[in-house]
Amino acid sequence: MNKKRKILVTSALPYANGDIHLGHLVEYLQTDFWVRFQKMRGHDCHYMCADDTHGTPIMISARDRGITPEALIAECHDRHFNDFKNFKIEFDNYYTTNSPENRELSSEIFLAMKEKGHIEERTISQLYCAHDRMFLPDRFVTGVCPSCGAEGQYGDSCDVCSATYSPSDLKDAACVICGKKPELKESVHLFFKLNNFRDFLKGWVRDHASRETANKLEEWLSEDLRDWDISRDAPYFGFEIPGYKDKFFYVWVDAPIGYISATKNWCDKNGRDYKEFWKADDAELYHFIGKDIVYFHTLFWPAMLHNAGYKTPDSVFVHGFLTVNGEKMSKSKGTFIKARTYLDHLSPAYLRYYYACKLNATIDDVDLSFDDFVTRVNSELIGKITNIASRSIQMLKKLELKTGVLSDDGKELVQKAQERSESIARHYEDRNFSKAIKEVRELAEDANRYIDHHEPWKHVASDPEKVRSILTALINVFRIITVYLKPVLPAYAADVEELLNSGVLTWNSVNEVLENHVVKPYKHLLNRIEKESCDAIIESEVKAAASANNANKTSAPSIADTISFDDFAKVDLRVAEVINAEDVEGADKLLKLTIWLGGDDRRTIFAGIKKYYSPEQIKGRLIAVVANLAPRKMKFGLSEGMLLAASAEDKSTVLLLAPDSGAKPGQKIS
Ligand code: 2FM
Ligand code: ZN
Repeated sequence: MNKKRKILVTSALPYANGDIHLGHLVEYLQTDFWVRFQKMRGHDCHYMCADDTHGTPIMISARDRGITPEALIAECHDRHFNDFKNFKIEFDNYYTTNSPENRELSSEIFLAMKEKGHIEERTISQLYCAHDRMFLPDRFVTGVCPSCGAEGQYGDSCDVCSATYSPSDLKDAACVICGKKPELKESVHLFFKLNNFRDFLKGWVRDHASRETANKLEEWLSEDLRDWDISRDAPYFGFEIPGYKDKFFYVWVDAPIGYISATKNWCDKNGRDYKEFWKADDAELYHFIGKDIVYFHTLFWPAMLHNAGYKTPDSVFVHGFLTVNGEKMSKSKGTFIKARTYLDHLSPAYLRYYYACKLNATIDDVDLSFDDFVTRVNSELIGKITNIASRSIQMLKKLELKTGVLSDDGKELVQKAQERSESIARHYEDRNFSKAIKEVRELAEDANRYIDHHEPWKHVASDPEKVRSILTALINVFRIITVYLKPVLPAYAADVEELLNSGVLTWNSVNEVLENHVVKPYKHLLNRIEKESCDAIIESEVKAAASANNANKTSAPSIADTISFDDFAKVDLRVAEVINAEDVEGADKLLKLTIWLGGDDRRTIFAGIKKYYSPEQIKGRLIAVVANLAPRKMKFGLSEGMLLAASAEDKSTVLLLAPDSGAKPGQKIS
């Protein structure tokens, strides 16, 4: 074994407001193959990831669902974590960017930028929605493209003519949230002076970027680099910038810092020091990313790290996008496939194997063609590879499941498989997974030829020892193949380990030969894929897309029986101000609100809205309450009224009156 390496590996952090889909998995699976390979080689390798939790879209998604951003990201973390786990993606830590470690590290890295004079304050004008009381990010403005006149274009670029522009250039701009016309408003922003790092970055690119990405980077670096706007105004879900009230770090500042925080969180729990990975020359650092986020990872990120005294990445491994059946993934065609939908129908092993067959170290897109997928799995993984085990172990059952010793040609077959070890390892190291699998396939073909040549099934009765020897060769080759496949198919390899009864396979296991060894009776390893299962996946996604479309069109709920006007007149509806809100110990769902109804009418009400609103979100807001409801004694105290909320099965939205509505506490609502 060569020297033990200390390696830290990351995949890009998925946003905490959407499901993991097969496009994401191109990245997480290849990272997982690579990390598992390094671990099998005995290296001190760790895989860090987290949810990317901050920013306007997450804040708005939470608001739309009537829940707090914290509740949204917690829910999403669970879903992401389970999807990854079921796909056998094994992180050492799957953390969150909304963590105390990340707040602290973001502050430290920002202060280092500021202290060294790389931050500049500048007043800028941006589109602001007076109705929603917020500045609008580019993707929250639509309008007519200033270049080609196409309608319904976002504030940054036109999908039709590819022109890029600033949101204020859009004609007939409208806020995506409320549809109203935004106005231009000034605000002070903080800018990171990236160009101060141009020379450093040129050196970093020369030494660390792959040839494919270096060309693009050199083009960027041939001109002055633009300052980077790293602040966002409140309301924003993120970390407040130290020393700047109501200014928050732009999500792309604290997102990559999440790589460090996840490491720190893991190190603190495992008796290690994160500086071993982030501040030491003997550690290696690699980021796996998609081709759309190269700028962030190869310019901003190395500059931020370098400035704050951290290690910069040894390399950034960039991959392309996923296409399905040769086309961009599409929701309406059912090819925008969620990880969960896939898992509902098929084993993760198939996709892991298929992606490994397709992946190499380039930024070319990867195509998932369902016909090819079915063929490769059925004819290669099952037909060529798994069949070696099923045929030989089932035959060995007639010979007490005990291997013998290798014959000369058996030795030759096994040696040929052993000799591939370093070449296959090189392919894994270079992320040429398709080449590794190709070599494995060739080994399986050799083994199948060996079976066909010897036709052992014909000699079981007449020459059992000869057959035992043939099967010994086959079982040993299969074991070696399993070692080579283990980074891609960990669960399959675990089943083979059990079957072969010879312990956990590491890369070095290829050098041992199992002779005179008893294996366990054959248990099925994998089934063939039925094409119908793939059709069912697509069908299920088509249905999901259609029902999401329908859900966007509001349908009228059924209305309860009518009441008389007199009944209605008995209900005294009033405006109230929430002057305090707090959690109730021992009650998961309740908030205790102190409301003011004008004059000295202050009351306590208990409301089951904790899942959807934090005390901070509701404090200071005007609400509508039934003021003459008889007080109700609850377990936690007396509730002296009831607030109005729109409630459905899984959500609840309190009726909040706009602060500028002119409504005053105590005022009657009719
Ligand atoms: O593009 C994205 O999906 C981002 N959430 C990736 C962040 S990677 C890292 F920098 F945090
Ligand atoms: Zn608006």
